[in-house]
Amino acid sequence: MTIAAAPSKPRAAARALPASVDASVELLKAGRYVADRSLATALYLALSLKRPLFLEGEAGVGKTEIAKVLADTLGRRLIRLQCYEGLDVASAVYEWNYARQMIEIRLAEATGRQTGASVPAGTDRAKLGEDVFAPRFLIERPLLQALRSDAAGAPVLLIDELDRTDEPFEAYLLEVLSDWQITIPEIGTIKAAEPPIVIITSNRTREIHDALKRRCFYYWVDYPDAARELEILRLKAPEADKRLAQQVVAFVQKLRGMDLFKLPGVAETIDWTQALVQLDRLSLDPETINNTLGVLLKYQDDIAKLQGSEAIKLLDQVKSELAALQAV
Ligand SMILES: Nc1ncnc2c1ncn2[C@@H]1O[C@H](COP(=O)(O)OP(=O)(O)OP(=O)(O)O)[C@@H](O)[C@H]1O
Ligand SMILES: [Mg+2]
Repeated sequence: MTIAAAPSKPRAAARALPASVDASVELLKAGRYVADRSLATALYLALSLKRPLFLEGEAGVGKTEIAKVLADTLGRRLIRLQCYEGLDVASAVYEWNYARQMIEIRLAEATGRQTGASVPAGTDRAKLGEDVFAPRFLIERPLLQALRSDAAGAPVLLIDELDRTDEPFEAYLLEVLSDWQITIPEIGTIKAAEPPIVIITSNRTREIHDALKRRCFYYWVDYPDAARELEILRLKAPEADKRLAQQVVAFVQKLRGMDLFKLPGVAETIDWTQALVQLDRLSLDPETINNTLGVLLKYQDDIAKLQGSEAIKLLDQVKSELAALQAV
C-alpha cells in the first residue's frame, strides 16, 4: 500500500521585506490580514531590525494568523513550534535517530564478524562512536530547522502559545533567540547564516520572563474596533449582506463591553457571520441570535446570561445606533 503525501501548498515567490510601515500594512493586506498602523509599525521594526516579535492578546484576536500571513506573503517557509507543558529539547530542537543508530551499530558488528575482526574494538569503536553521531542521524525539530535558510531566505518561525511551556524551556529559548545558534555536544555549534523571522505568541495564561521579552519587540493584539472588524468581515466573510455584517460587528462590540467569562474574539465574529449566512439571514433577529449563540460564546453561563431579554435589549440598541449613524 502506498500512502500519498498530502500536497503541500505551493509557496508564493520570495518577496523582499517591507521597506516602510505603509508597505507592512500592504503586505498584511495582501494576505487578507487587516492591521492597524501600530501593529504594522511593530512588525516593520521587528522585520527590519531582525528582532523577534512577541504578540500577546486574548484568544482569537489574530496572533497566530500574522505569522502564517507573513510566511505566505513573503514566500518563506513557515516553521511552527506549538508549545505545550513539558515541551522538551527532543521535540523542539533535535533528537538522535536511535533506531537508525542501532541499525548502524548492528551492521558494523555484522561486517566485523564477516572479516573476523573483533568489532567494535579500539580505534574501530571510536570511529563507530563518531559515525553514529553524524548529522545524518540527527532529526531536526523546529528550532533547529529555523536556523537553516533556504533559497527563499530566512524562514518564518512561529513559536505559538509560549505561555503553555515551562520556564526551563523558556530559558533555553533565550539562548537561541540571542545568538541564533544551537550547540549539539556531539557535533558542535550550528549558527544561522541569517536570523529567522520570529513570531512568538502568548495568551498570557502566565507571565513570560522579562529576559525573554527584552530580546523581542512586544505588541499587545487588542480586539479590533468596529471599523476594522467590519473590514475583516468584508475579507473573511464577503458573502454576508452589508447590513448583517454591520449588525454582527455592532452586536459583538457590545458583547465585549459586558461582564462575560469569555469574550468573543475575531474568530468567533467570523464564525458567527458565516453561520448566519448559512442560515440565509440578511439581518439579525432575536430568535436567530438565541439559536446561534453557541457559535459566538463558548460558556453556558455566558449563553444563559444573554439568551432572551438581554439579547433583545442589545439588538434594539444595535439597531437604533446603526439607524442613527445612517441618518447622519
Ligand atoms: N486582523 C485580522 N485580519 C484578518 N483576519 C483576522 C484578523 N484577526 C483575526 N483574524 C482571523 O481570526 C481567526 C483567528 O485568528 P488566530 O488564530 O490568529 O487567533 P489567535 O489570536 O492566534 O487565537 P488563539 O489565542 O486562540 O490561538 C483567523 O481565522 C484569522 O484569519
Ligand atoms: Mg493562536
